[in-house]
Amino acid sequence: MVVVLLGPPGVGKGTQGARLAEGLGWERLATGDLLRQARREGTALGREAEGFMDKGELVPDDLIVRMMEERLDSLGPEDGVFLDGFPRTRAQAEALERMLPRVGRKVRAVLLFEAPDEVLVKRISGRRHSPDSGRVYNVHFDPPQREGICDETGTPLVHREDDRPETVERRLVVYREQTAPLIAYYAEHEAPLLTVDADRPIDEVQENARRVLTEALEQSEGAQ
Ligand code: AP5
Repeated sequence: MVVVLLGPPGVGKGTQGARLAEGLGWERLATGDLLRQARREGTALGREAEGFMDKGELVPDDLIVRMMEERLDSLGPEDGVFLDGFPRTRAQAEALERMLPRVGRKVRAVLLFEAPDEVLVKRISGRRHSPDSGRVYNVHFDPPQREGICDETGTPLVHREDDRPETVERRLVVYREQTAPLIAYYAEHEAPLLTVDADRPIDEVQENARRVLTEALEQSEGAQ
């Protein structure tokens, strides 16, 4: 079972994906998190990716596809998985379709999160994350108990390098040019494309996402 999380930077894919995965006991593979981990560890992939990421550009398809193929291979056969931030180009979507049958999986649904650009920019400007726990906060909407400190680890929160305003602008353009065309691609796909209004409070978005996804998965199981 594979569910793709699609949507622009800052719309809440990570926030919602983490909660959905926890609620269903599924895995979440987030390409951005995996790349940031590779950078922290100083791997060859991390070194190759960093220049693209800091400029707000996409990392080349072949590197991403190889990384995801390895990750999908390492999952247990029964694990459900949310793909957060992948695919992001048509070439990646086609590569995913080629690799899934080999690991006995199929895209069962695509959740598309939507919110206006000004909302995305405000969310990104307030985002802070904990490199130790991976937890994401927001100084405007979801602050930690103690300013600048992770509730779970007690260590300082950081602002992502690519969350600077000029890079965010570029990431939004890259999303429109290279990733948004996947909406039309998945509208033609056999898995349902489920749109969620992400311009709502976090809990409400979660409730709606969970409801539409559960309905769609039940329908697809009933049809088999
Ligand atoms: P990645 O890390 O995937 O970044 P992104 O897609 O730009 O998404 P974000 O992480 O910015 O946002 P999100 O939607 O997860 O929002 P979040 O939940 O954090 O990618 C980074 C870079 O890696 C790319 O630019 C590229 O270079 C490279 N890369 C990654 N994948 C790639 C691929 N497949 N191919 C090529 N290159 C790739 O929420 C944002 C903030 O808002 C948080 O602070 C959160 O607390 C808050 N928030 C969330 N929901 C709400 C709400 N409903 N109300 C109020 N606040 C909210």
